[in-house]
This record gives sequence, C-alpha cells and structure tokens, in this order.
Amino acid sequence: MSARLVVLVSGGGTNLQAILDACASGRLDASVVAVFSDRAGAFGLERARRADVPAIHAPYSPFSTKRGGAGRAAYDAALAVRVEAMRPDLVVLAGFMRILSPAFVGRFSGRLINLHPALPGAFPGTRAIERALAAAQAGDLHETGVMVHHVIPEVDAGPVIAQATVPVAASDTLDSLAPRIHAVEHELLVTAIAQLVHSRGRTTSKELS
Ligand code: GAR
Repeated sequence: MSARLVVLVSGGGTNLQAILDACASGRLDASVVAVFSDRAGAFGLERARRADVPAIHAPYSPFSTKRGGAGRAAYDAALAVRVEAMRPDLVVLAGFMRILSPAFVGRFSGRLINLHPALPGAFPGTRAIERALAAAQAGDLHETGVMVHHVIPEVDAGPVIAQATVPVAASDTLDSLAPRIHAVEHELLVTAIAQLVHSRGRTTSKELS
C-alpha cells in the first residue's frame, strides 16, 4: 500500500513540490495526504491546493501567550492531533520553521523526518545557508551541504538518513550558493523518503508473509 505522507511547511514549498512531483511520477510509492503550515501566506499551501491535497493553515496566534493563549506545548498538542488524524506513515518537516516540543517529537518518533540545508552538526537553526556562506567568505569553510534526519528534541539534529556535500567558495554569493543547495536538497529529500518508504514496504510484506 502506498505510504501516506504529511508534509509541514512554512515557506515556498519547493521541497514539497519535489515530493509531490515524485509521487505523481511514481518515483515515490507514496501520496501526500495533507500539507500543514503555520503561515497563511506560505506558497507551499498553494502548491498543495494545486495538487488537490488538503492544505491546512494551523496558525500559532490563537495559542500565543501574549494573546492569552495556552502556549507552545498546547499548539504542538493540537497540531499533533490534526496530523495524527491524517494517519501518516511519515511526517516530513520540509522547511517548517517552528521548533516542535519533545511531546510532538515523541509522538511521531520513527516517522518524523526533517530536512536541513547544512551538514550534520553544522549551522543548526535558521539561516544555515547564509551562515555557511559567511564562513566560506571568511576562508573558514570549503564545503557545506544538506541532510535529512530523524527528528529528536534537539534542533536540526538526530540520526542521519541521507546527506550530501556542496562545495562552497569564498567567491560565492547567496545567489550562486542557494540554488545549488536547493537543487541538492530537492533530490536528497526524495531519495531519503524513497529509502524509508521502501524499507517500510519490505517490513509490511515480511509481516504479511
Ligand atoms: C529549505 O532550504 C530547508 O532545508 C530549510 O528551509 C528551506 C525550505 O525551502 N529548512 C531549515 O532551515 C530547517 N532548519 P522550501 O520552502 O522552498 O522547501
């Protein structure tokens, strides 16, 4: 049975698009059953709608303690219930720019993966490409990269599923480096999902035999 993917995004969703395209072409034996975003204007939601995938805006603002809401843990708990309702085999964080609480991470343990535009241990958090570029421009770095990893409570860390290096030169600019990183991550994310979906298929057929 084709794997059910739920994808969480906050921005443009080019990685979501790579997944949607891989599902449509048959490269992935999977389908995206829902896309969630904390940002209403995330173009990733529009990409989902165009692919006839439920596009769900899950704003943090009603939970913000500044507005009398119940806070981050309550937001994550509510999001977890909505994600679980989609019966995902795999939850993919593809540019979802909120840090998920340990309770969320624990609930989806083993089926929650994240894409990060840096190598393991390097530049966790936001603006990883910009920080790698600054290090390269200072002469301190000659390669950066991309990784896909299982999610643990620590940000942009956890057992690595796939990684790829991208050379970076002091002469690079954001306009020259970012597209190279993005091209690699589009490919790597699909490869990592294929690996997980494929091993899940093997487990399922073993269980059935
Ligand atoms: C990607 O570069 C992804 O690696 C990064 O957000 C971007 C989303 O792009 N994620 C992180 O930095 C996680 N810490 P997209 O919306 O075009 O897929």
